[in-house]
Amino acid sequence: MNMEEGMVRELASGTLPELEATIASLNMTPGWIKRQIPLVWKEMQSQFIPAQWKYVAARELMQQAAKVLGTDLAERRNFVMRNPVPDNDFSILRTIICAYQTVLPGETAMSHRHSSHAMRVMLDSNGAYSIVNGRKHPMDSGDIVLTPGGCWHGHGHEGMEQAFWVDGLDVPLTHLLEPMFYEPHPERWEPVTCEARHSPMRFPWADTVESLKNAPADSTGHFGKTILLDTSLFMPTLTLKVCGWQKGWSSRPYRHTANVVYVVMQGSGSSTIGECKFDWQFGDVIASPGWNRIEHHAGEDSVLCCISDEQLMRWTRYYRHESMQ
Ligand SMILES: [Fe+2]
Repeated sequence: MNMEEGMVRELASGTLPELEATIASLNMTPGWIKRQIPLVWKEMQSQFIPAQWKYVAARELMQQAAKVLGTDLAERRNFVMRNPVPDNDFSILRTIICAYQTVLPGETAMSHRHSSHAMRVMLDSNGAYSIVNGRKHPMDSGDIVLTPGGCWHGHGHEGMEQAFWVDGLDVPLTHLLEPMFYEPHPERWEPVTCEARHSPMRFPWADTVESLKNAPADSTGHFGKTILLDTSLFMPTLTLKVCGWQKGWSSRPYRHTANVVYVVMQGSGSSTIGECKFDWQFGDVIASPGWNRIEHHAGEDSVLCCISDEQLMRWTRYYRHESMQ
């Protein structure tokens, strides 16, 4: 027994509180103590709440922001959608951050790269584009464009009208795991090497509409007609699905462990997430934390993009899904 071991044995001898104090002094916590946050609990309980952001209001504010702030000052002119829970100022859900973003005709939003994976759902756009590793990807209304982690990316706009879209990134997950790296492009604006209309980074609206037409019916009745946009190769932490719901369609209620952000690409309807009912229309965003009861209703023919951590939940074998009443 060396001197240190002898000292610990001497410190530890005594009452239970004395023993616990000694354990604590060595940066350990006894497994039997009562903790403010327990290590395990009965079932999933997200710290985030169901919430909604209205495009009409955000669009108006983005028009105002464009008058007072250029992309020369704001690297990205965007509004981050904060889930309104204490001590949170940027996450929309546990693993996802979302923002409304806008660029004006003729503007460029400088190129940069970062560890976090990112994607955009174009709401109103004719002539905007993203340069991803030198390849210029058109971003018109309804297009979905990926900018995977580590890829240089910047945005520009050659059209006539202000462009608006929704960004989705896995930044909170990068923070949790801690491998964040960020770098501005050495030339500020990455030179274009080629145009990439057909690219694994781009899902054009016309292709999405066609795929939805041919999608098989959903046997569960939970999700409706759904297509998966394959992100598994480039950004496995973000799952992208697009649902096409006919006017009058209602889902059977369910819950699952995936955290899902819905972006309304077309139509209108309502969704009940947990105890909250949201009426939605074009451009609105709804945050659905995992394990809340979900029920949707389409008031018109509707298309919604679902950004989630489902693949991640499945890969970790944390995914669960069940019908509800
Ligand atoms: Fe970025």
